[in-house]
Amino acid sequence: MKGIVFTEFIDMVESKFGLGMMDDIIESANLPSGGIYTAVGTYDHSEMVELIVGVSKRTNISVNHLLKIYGKHLFVILMNSYAHFFPNIKSAFDLFEQIDSHIHVEVLKLYPDAELPKFNTQRLDANTIEMLYQSERKMADFADGLIEAALEYFNETANVQIEHLNDSGSLVKFIISKV
Ligand code: HEM
Repeated sequence: MKGIVFTEFIDMVESKFGLGMMDDIIESANLPSGGIYTAVGTYDHSEMVELIVGVSKRTNISVNHLLKIYGKHLFVILMNSYAHFFPNIKSAFDLFEQIDSHIHVEVLKLYPDAELPKFNTQRLDANTIEMLYQSERKMADFADGLIEAALEYFNETANVQIEHLNDSGSLVKFIISKV
């Protein structure tokens, strides 16, 4: 998992819960990186899980909810850093359709070792899109946060319906209906 995902997570936790909590989590976890991340480095996904579980235990906020909050937070940062990738995206649905075919393709060019999910998107009608999320990292809650932030970014309102298609969380269907 890319370092930017770690550095921004640590910044978010420090700004919401203070500096001490993250230090305490890093000290008590046995992280191969020692808790030192650079934005362009690559680290094991399990380290992210350890950090999130650490925050969850100390705040009583569920891991799923923390992932969603973090997705919302990171979206704005990604859009600010990488907006030049998507000059032709005019709506949240445009963006959803281009994650797999364009956005994450560009991410892979920049960071060939990035670990990205697979999204199959299909417009069901003018106001509805289906997105099928597939990833062994099982971060659909993070995707949910990114999706919500994208709708807010384009000033759109929609219902997001989520259906888990297996027990592990690696296959999740989102149905997004504009209201
Ligand atoms: C609504 C829009 C988006 C969705 C739903 C989405 C979804 C995801 C998810 C779920 C992951 C976690 C990895 C996994 O589940 O396997 C991820 C990783 C990532 N995405 Fe996206 N993404 C979106 C937009 C973007 C944008 C705009 C960028 C910026 C160019 C971006 C860049 C990245 C990067 C750098 C990673 C980390 C890869 C790694 O750690 O190796 N994504 N994305």
